[in-house]
Amino acid sequence: LHPNGGDRDLTQEILNAVDEHETVPTNELFPHTSQAEIKAALDRLASRQMVEYDTNDKEHVVLTQEGQDIVDEGSHEYKVWDAVHKAGKLSPKDQALSTPSAKLGQGNAIKLKWIKKDGDAFVPLTDSVTDTTREQLRYASEHHAFEDAKLLKDYQKRKLVATQKVITYIARKGPRWAREIPVEVTDLTAEMIADGSWKTATFKPYNFKARGVLGEAGHGGTGALHPLNKVREEFRKIFFNMGFVEMPTARFVDSGFWNFDALFVPQQHPARDLQDTFYVSDPAEAGPPGADESVDVVLAETAEEDDDESDKPTSSDPATRAAETTSKLDYNEYFENVKRVHQDGAFGSIGYRYPYNDAETRRLVLRTHTTAISAYCLHRLAANPRPCRYFSIDRVFRNETVDATHLAEFHQIEGVIADYNLTLGGLQAFLKRFFRNIGVPDLKFKPAYNPYTEPSMEVYAWHEGLGKLVEIGNSGMFRPEMLLAMGLPEDLRCYGFGLSLERPTMIKYGISNIRELLGHKVDIGDIEKMPAVRLDRE
Ligand code: PHE
Repeated sequence: LHPNGGDRDLTQEILNAVDEHETVPTNELFPHTSQAEIKAALDRLASRQMVEYDTNDKEHVVLTQEGQDIVDEGSHEYKVWDAVHKAGKLSPKDQALSTPSAKLGQGNAIKLKWIKKDGDAFVPLTDSVTDTTREQLRYASEHHAFEDAKLLKDYQKRKLVATQKVITYIARKGPRWAREIPVEVTDLTAEMIADGSWKTATFKPYNFKARGVLGEAGHGGTGALHPLNKVREEFRKIFFNMGFVEMPTARFVDSGFWNFDALFVPQQHPARDLQDTFYVSDPAEAGPPGADESVDVVLAETAEEDDDESDKPTSSDPATRAAETTSKLDYNEYFENVKRVHQDGAFGSIGYRYPYNDAETRRLVLRTHTTAISAYCLHRLAANPRPCRYFSIDRVFRNETVDATHLAEFHQIEGVIADYNLTLGGLQAFLKRFFRNIGVPDLKFKPAYNPYTEPSMEVYAWHEGLGKLVEIGNSGMFRPEMLLAMGLPEDLRCYGFGLSLERPTMIKYGISNIRELLGHKVDIGDIEKMPAVRLDRE
């Protein structure tokens, strides 16, 4: 088998040519071989220093179809003259003069004094003409350049020629020139060392530029990640580096209480309608709000896992770990507080003042935001109130019409920061820092409304491609009537913010249709090939 795999040995052909001609412009010698093949063969020889080569970039003039027609049949003006000359006298209405090309040629034929108007008809002024256009184009087609370089612009404008970049390799003998590639050894064996043949053997050089074998990934291969999970991992690292602890989000189904009521979303709020939220029909109801022991176990474990990450300030605080497994308020008491805030007003809030329906709190929903988990974790924090930072990145569900940018399920990145006497300015400063960490420099904030935060701000950033500000997240300070009802102290305030995981992923991978990323239309082969990402961290 030849080194280049085919039944033709291009490397040997190049060696023969260099041996014969000293310097060889390869394209002239191998006009029908692709540049890539020639380059691969040259590189094979150059890596062994058998051959050296230079690369020449040149602009070639090539004829367009119209230019080629002129070389084949003569210029437009020539054809007009030819027709008039043959006929002796020709009416402009004659068929030979009514083609589009003849119309183009008439003016020139007159200007060149080849024909003239005689009454209603054209008559020839000469018996022979020199078709300069045709001559110049013929020259260009043979030499890939004009005899007079100044002509190029003009002919390009007339769309008779175009230019093409052509790479020529010029090869010559190298310092370790040989007529053939010697037999090469790829492995150093025990026998070679024993019998000393390694001393004279020719070893095949390493090719450090070779591309690696594409790893198996994406569909159960070596456990590589889906692009969404790759970006998720990047965000997790950023959160960990900023001292955040991950919240346990492994419950897609939650009660209306945690998804809505605890967040001060009134029971008549449109977000709670069937058109916006998926309700579970079997079972349709959760028990009354209470401790979810499985979640508590995860929270405790998550806090322990954090020890592995060396650069997290909060994880070294032993209180961080213990706190989440107990809560200060009995759930009945907390439930009554939430009900009171909604129905009658409490903790400084005048409430919504509507009859609160306990059954609504038990309806099971596919969670519409991960803020349901944040509420749960903040409530657990009340047992041992202290500054802390929580984050989560997981799936949420909304009853949306599916289109290029919306799916009925997507992923939210969410962060919560609790600390004493936080201010809105502090939230803005934090968001600026967070987004700078993912390569988004200048933020703008717009007042917004969330039932659970006041004030609330939408976060905007400049999108270079779209040339406008686009919304990249939502944020706010959790309402006191939400936090106080949990039993958190008055001066402990809390930031919250959220963004979608899909948007940065689509931007990173240049995907414009979300259905190429998630769902049944995804091309698994594409997913497998998508490379790792890196958010542009500072
Ligand atoms: N839950 C909000 C959303 O779904 C995001 C958010 C989280 C806003 C926390 C404020 C505070 O868009």
